Amino acid sequence: MNVWQKLSKKELHQRVFDAVNSNVNYSDEAVLGVPASYLDPKVFNADAPFLDDAPYMTSMVKNPNHIGCHTIGESEAYFSGTQELEREVIRICAEDILKGEKNAQDGYIAAGGTEANLQALWVFRNYFQKKFQASNEEIAIVCSQDSHYSMNKGSNLLGVDIINVPVNDDTRLVEEQVLTELLQDAVVSGKRYFAIVVNMATTMFGSVDEIDLWVSCLKSLGDKVQYKIHVDGAYGGFIYPFTTSNNALNFKNPEVDSITLDAHKMAQAPYGTGIFLCRKGLIENVLTEEAQYVNGMDLTLIGSRSGANAIAVWMILMTYGPHDWKEKNEILVGRTSIICNKLDELGIEYYRHPQMNIVTIRSEFIPKELVTKYGLVPETHTANNRWCKIVVMDHVTADVIHHFLKDLVASKKTISVSL
Ligand SMILES: Cc1ncc(COP(=O)(O)O)c(C=O)c1O
Repeated sequence: MNVWQKLSKKELHQRVFDAVNSNVNYSDEAVLGVPASYLDPKVFNADAPFLDDAPYMTSMVKNPNHIGCHTIGESEAYFSGTQELEREVIRICAEDILKGEKNAQDGYIAAGGTEANLQALWVFRNYFQKKFQASNEEIAIVCSQDSHYSMNKGSNLLGVDIINVPVNDDTRLVEEQVLTELLQDAVVSGKRYFAIVVNMATTMFGSVDEIDLWVSCLKSLGDKVQYKIHVDGAYGGFIYPFTTSNNALNFKNPEVDSITLDAHKMAQAPYGTGIFLCRKGLIENVLTEEAQYVNGMDLTLIGSRSGANAIAVWMILMTYGPHDWKEKNEILVGRTSIICNKLDELGIEYYRHPQMNIVTIRSEFIPKELVTKYGLVPETHTANNRWCKIVVMDHVTADVIHHFLKDLVASKKTISVSL
């Protein structure tokens, strides 16, 4: 590990308080020009005694703005203390978790997985435009049909077409022939530049795309096409790299250009903690030159953003360290296997990736009452829904699972009759 380690509570608090205290202090310093301040003290009590022992809440009250990207060029000096913690988060994710070379990636804490995915598509579109004078009509986003709908948002916002590739209904994987034919059709209709998105676990199934298959289909098209590959790890990024020993969806793989992670899912961070990562040399494609009042380059989609979010992610990662983090995830995957073993015994059909914590059950195998009672999430909120998912998060304990399975066994007879 380059950066990631487990810190004691004392060390952790010290680092955060030191970082916050290195930022501008609006109370003691004459800061006349910035449209920013601490949180309104009439509403948020900055003198509350518990804050002395609450580094994250303290950083909320001090309200640092991490506008811009802090892994490249200059940044706003007012918040340099806490920007350093954000840089560490980016390095932990890009280097320690996703096996990038030291200081070879850029990145920032985005509003969420959606923003990080949009940022990636924006970077790729502009790269094709700048490097090859591509027109929007020649560019297409290509991803599996199980991809998150942020790709469709990206298509709409960026004015480029999207190709949603069908997947096999059982494996949830794209098939070689289907993908090759769709890509060939796209080339015939004038597409030359592909912004590819592969999933490091899809939202509904937890399925993980086979990047090697995607690359070989793309390469079979020859030199007439260019492509860039983004990995959407918004769901799986904080779990899959720890539960699999041969992850091809990281920066060790030269085909991977950028990656989204999302700390507000599996890392249980506050909302507003998506993470965008890309290889150095790419993010400059989205430089907004008009952002003159921001010191340094604004290379992000979002603009102003809370520095407290970066601190929250930093604290979570440093509280666990890499080894406890792995164990935490293995426990979740183990609980998921308990569910799957029982489903197998009961002859209930489902999809599950063995290294993931999602179980997606064919809806005809599960009574509606149980779907409602246990808050299972349907694929679609319409009458023709085919799948319902269980996501084994931290609060989905062995005890809750036991009660669910007990109810499922009890209902099995009724289901068999109605099938
Ligand atoms: C795979 C994947 N990508 C992107 C997103 C979007 O993340 P957010 O809701 O944080 O914008 C999600 C959300 O569930 C997701 O599962």
